[in-house]
This record gives sequence, structure tokens and C-alpha cells, in this order.
Amino acid sequence: MKRGTTVYLYELAWILPSIAIPVGMLAALTVTMYGAGIHLPGQEWRIDPTRVASTAPFDKPGLVEIGPGRYEVYLTAGVWFFTPNEIRVPVGSTVTFVATSRDVVHGLLVPNARVNVMLLPGQVARVTTRFDRPGEFSMICHEYCGIAHHTMWGKVIVEERRS
Ligand code: CUA
Repeated sequence: MKRGTTVYLYELAWILPSIAIPVGMLAALTVTMYGAGIHLPGQEWRIDPTRVASTAPFDKPGLVEIGPGRYEVYLTAGVWFFTPNEIRVPVGSTVTFVATSRDVVHGLLVPNARVNVMLLPGQVARVTTRFDRPGEFSMICHEYCGIAHHTMWGKVIVEERRS
């Protein structure tokens, strides 16, 4: 029954990619997970959404210097504000936004600074960026969150270093 096992070239042209594509995707997934450390936020980044204002670090929203040129900003979103609404950092700073929502789904977008996350109630988002040039950057809520959604914004002021 040798004839039954004949694999035609056109069959092979379908079979090989159908194996190679999922294997390639699995490899890409493994590299991003373990190599680049990209993964879904885990349980440790969840807090009780009804107690945001009394849960650390959101009980003291604001900017904290965690090292030379490195900052963390604890940011709370609510209808329709960011707290803090304005942050100031010197140029060249690396800033990690640690943010959550205390009511509905909001967003945090800082154009030209590679910050673009959803803020879900009780889910803590973390995103790190570097501000390499001075100027003003907007922090914009880019998830529709109600009647005054369009007024929900703040700013990051990147200051020239005083020497
Ligand atoms: Cu908050 Cu739109």
C-alpha cells in the first residue's frame, strides 16, 4: 500500500506552514514571556476597587523619586480627573506610572511618550517611560467614561535641568 502514503507537493505546501506557523507563534510567545517579560498583569496588581483611596500606594497619590533620575507616580483616575493632575520631572527622567481607576473604566494616554494603558477599577496598571526632551505632555483619558470624558486630562511637565 505504498501508493496511499504518497505526499504530493501541494499537500506539503499546506502541511508544512500549518505546522510551522503555530510552532513559530508558540516560540514567539515563549520569547516574549520569558525573554522580554511581557505578560498579563497578575493577581498582585489587583486591589479592592471600592477602597482605592485607602489602599497603598494610592492613599498618597503623587510623584516619588525612587532613585537618581527615576520616579514613580501613583495616579488615580476617577470621573473626571486624574490625581495628581500635573506632575513635574526633570528632563532625562525615567517615570513609572502606577495607576488605577476608582470608579469606571478610564484610560491613560501620554502622546509621544509611549504611555497607553486602560485603567480598570481595581486593576493596577504599570507603565514606564523616559522623558528625553523638555516640554509639556498631556495625560489624556482615552476611554469614554461619561458626560465629561473630554475634560479629563492632566499634564506632565518635563523641565530643563537647572545646573
Ligand atoms: Cu476618564 Cu474618559
